[in-house]
Amino acid sequence: MIGIVLGSGLGPLADAVAVEREVAFAEAGLPVSSVPGHAGKFVCGKLAGAPVVVMRGRVHLYEGHSPRSVTAGVRWMADQGITRLILTNAAGTLNPDFPPGTWMMLSDHLNLTGVTPLEGADFVDLSAAYDPAWRAEFRAAALASGMPLHEGVYAGLRGPQYETPAEIRMLRALGADAVGMSTVLETIQARSLGLTVAAFSCLTNWAAGLSNTPLDHREVLATGNQAAQAMIGLLTKVLTTHGTPT
Ligand code: HPA
Repeated sequence: MIGIVLGSGLGPLADAVAVEREVAFAEAGLPVSSVPGHAGKFVCGKLAGAPVVVMRGRVHLYEGHSPRSVTAGVRWMADQGITRLILTNAAGTLNPDFPPGTWMMLSDHLNLTGVTPLEGADFVDLSAAYDPAWRAEFRAAALASGMPLHEGVYAGLRGPQYETPAEIRMLRALGADAVGMSTVLETIQARSLGLTVAAFSCLTNWAAGLSNTPLDHREVLATGNQAAQAMIGLLTKVLTTHGTPT
């Protein structure tokens, strides 16, 4: 079974699922997000015939939640039996070759939240956090269907404020291609549980200082909604073409 976490504005992805069961976050012991665009529930069912659990909405550090709360959904899905996890998020783009409205598959991340969901001596190896073999499948599927799919490094910050232009220049110097406020802790938690991880950023806007338009959460949601269809297409193709490896 595959777990899929939906980011801001990516709700339409859950609508592509043939629903068998819905579990509210509260029922699963998770805190409920207060951010518009993050309705909190798990949608269990089939996507392109493959068994999935879709986590619709997530909780964030910037809402005041702890690193353990932020990653409780990943642990819940692992308890349900997922072996693979697909994380999606909305992110600003720092790379001039990766325009807003397109998708970036994460090749790696920078955890700049300053925290971790792990406790104790859990020295998990993150040298290939985003599974190289699974990435190759997504890359091939995107190429075959003519979908632009960039690959790059995601910088995960705490937020909730967007970055300053100086911070964006710093992140660029550190090797980041995209910036957002989620995903990195979930990846760390998932790897610690032995899950195979892939993650995708919907690039919703140029990062601060790279365009003249001020950043706006509503614009992030709108761009996410428009780009969701391409990701539904990609996931459907990979789940159908390559079956459901466990
Ligand atoms: N910065 C941080 N998080 C984001 C952005 C951004 O520009 N866009 C969407 N999420």
